Amino acid sequence: MEESKLQDLLNEMTLEEKVGQLTQVFGQPYLDDNYEVTGPMSFLAVPSELVPVAGSILGASGAESTRKIQDVYLEKSRLKIPLLFMADVIHGYKTIFPIPLGIGASWNPDTAVKTAKISAVETAVSGIHVTFSPMVDLVRDPRWGRVMESTGEDKFLNEQFAEAFVRGYQGDSYSDPYAIASCVKHFAAYGAPEGGRDYNTVNMSERQLREDYLSAYQAAIDAGTELVMTSFNVVDGIPSTGNRWLLKDLLRDEMGFEGVVISDWGAVKEMIPHGVAADEKEAALKALNATNDIEMMTFTYHRYAKDHIDAGHVDEKLIDESVMRILKLKNKLGLFENPYRAASQDDEKDLIFSDAHRQTALEVAEESMVLLKNDSVLPLEDNGQTVALIGPFAEGEDMLGAWSWKGEAETASSLHASLKSALTSGNVLYAKGSAITETTEEWMEEAVKAASEADVVIMALGESAEMSGEAASRSDITLPQSQADLLKKIAELGKPIATVLFNGRPLDLNTVEPYSDAILEAWFPGTEGGEAVANLLTGKTNPSGKLPMSFPESVGQIPVYYNHYNTGRPAEEREEGRYASRYLDVSNYPKYAFGYGLSYTSFDYSKVTLSSDIMTADEPIEVNVTLTNTGKRAGQEAVQLYIRDLVGEVVRPKKELKGFRKVQLNPGESKKVSFTLSEDMLTYVHQDLTKQADAGEFDVFVGASSLAEHSGRFSLKI
Ligand code: BGC
Ligand code: BGC
Repeated sequence: MEESKLQDLLNEMTLEEKVGQLTQVFGQPYLDDNYEVTGPMSFLAVPSELVPVAGSILGASGAESTRKIQDVYLEKSRLKIPLLFMADVIHGYKTIFPIPLGIGASWNPDTAVKTAKISAVETAVSGIHVTFSPMVDLVRDPRWGRVMESTGEDKFLNEQFAEAFVRGYQGDSYSDPYAIASCVKHFAAYGAPEGGRDYNTVNMSERQLREDYLSAYQAAIDAGTELVMTSFNVVDGIPSTGNRWLLKDLLRDEMGFEGVVISDWGAVKEMIPHGVAADEKEAALKALNATNDIEMMTFTYHRYAKDHIDAGHVDEKLIDESVMRILKLKNKLGLFENPYRAASQDDEKDLIFSDAHRQTALEVAEESMVLLKNDSVLPLEDNGQTVALIGPFAEGEDMLGAWSWKGEAETASSLHASLKSALTSGNVLYAKGSAITETTEEWMEEAVKAASEADVVIMALGESAEMSGEAASRSDITLPQSQADLLKKIAELGKPIATVLFNGRPLDLNTVEPYSDAILEAWFPGTEGGEAVANLLTGKTNPSGKLPMSFPESVGQIPVYYNHYNTGRPAEEREEGRYASRYLDVSNYPKYAFGYGLSYTSFDYSKVTLSSDIMTADEPIEVNVTLTNTGKRAGQEAVQLYIRDLVGEVVRPKKELKGFRKVQLNPGESKKVSFTLSEDMLTYVHQDLTKQADAGEFDVFVGASSLAEHSGRFSLKI
């Protein structure tokens, strides 16, 4: 439809129809003739008069079902404005990719583009138009279960992935029927809840919000994301969904977002328990005036918008603007011409979970895994040896992870079967040993027996899929006790042990590291997880993942992240004295640092050269290094560039990531890697909240992780 016609359509709409567009409901009332929700869930019951005027649907899927919902709706609706279908397709629809934290660990944003594109195809043919992804919340606390949905603790890395995900979902144009709209979330700072407890208070200065937390949302906006979802938390004491400063002044006016803002699930009504609204009516008032367009799954707009307009507390113009944004999105997606868009049962059969999609799932899973330790155990040689594979993830446990509602855990490749076929000459013994949180004496004995008959032991351990994700915060982030006991017991046999970890967050590895000669972090690797692990264990593929988030040495250090400030009493500069910023009982350092990850080959970094030791606004600096593969296998390395601003107006982090490049090298091969550093890359938020760079000296660090050594210095002249 021509955009000018949308105004005519808006003019025709009654207020009730307009407000309907601003409400998101379940598909059930359209599918079920006798729809009625009673009992404890009755608060979710969709009011019957909303059914013919609602604007969008949450969580429906499948071409048959989405088409039926659309048909029933269009029949009932007066103006026949098609419904928009939205759902959470977070790391794949049916073909499940690694969790986003794992995708971040690839340090290769192309993996995000590829996986998002495939997710979009499978999602589109099932009749969904919008995915509630990417989540780009910056995270520093692994107790928070939702770190699995993010790409980690660094804003620069998050920005690259935010852009890549949006590009992958949305493609170049909606004339491609398999492109879907993306919704970046959760605006803002949802990733910083106190104590890592989900939905908890977020408390930070506006300066820090602007400096560290906003940039990944901005990257998604610049990449064209169509929607933004509000967060459950407060920002400076006001819940995001009713925070006019956040949504209107900052997001729309300053950050330039022109699309649709949707509340998180029930977040409008949650302003009541937050204690900023006395009742539903006041909650509606706050959310409407904050310019939150769509209310997800509660009905306060539907019930009270009219009262507020009549009373002059809400300007109807605001409602019109919200409706227009939604109509524009529906129109961009071509729904007025074809309300079903790509929904097709035939295409579902042909395209969903195809071999090509699974192949990408395999490659991305391989690229996401991080080799944390390797004392000459891996890769396993196919030399007739006996391998004991032990643990809950060897077989049968869910490798898909949280937020994979359409994925079927049983269809994922099994580690046991994959390892057996990879080790053609050897013998693979299997014992479960333990379930996620409990074991039996018999299971333990079987595992000890298998291990004692083996030359090498592979332990497949971890968290269950439900132990991370939404509402899955943990205060103790070690392995569940029964698995720790199992590992310790097996270690008593003195056999070489490689532990493969399946989990959704950085763990405290104190019960794993001392008993493992090698550790492979597999995250929740998705549909092809078993095969990907087998390929890495046997060296068919060389690990190349690097940590996107620090692994703490103990929970008491949290938050522990690489880009912290120096403080006035840095422990490193006061090795002996007591009066330094340190703990008495644990170091300041994480167990495994941000950016860290091993390979089966070795890489040598040449001396780093700078094109100049003076930078000006017009003259960026080039940072060059030559990387050589000095080992015997081909491999990939994520080369990382960090800087430190030595003297700022505001204190500066000890290191800040400013560039990375994933480089593939054959044995003996060398490649020059160049980064350009320009003045705008040195800007940060000053005390007056403007972005500026400081004149003066900057250190440069190039290397294989955030532990990269000092490699040069330059001065910025302003
Ligand atoms: C989550 C969102 C999600 C929404 C819709 C909420 O509970 O916080 O991330 O998109 O539900 O399912
Ligand atoms: C302490 C102060 C104390 C001062 C003088 C500092 O190290 O932080 O509390 O008053 O020493 O002894």
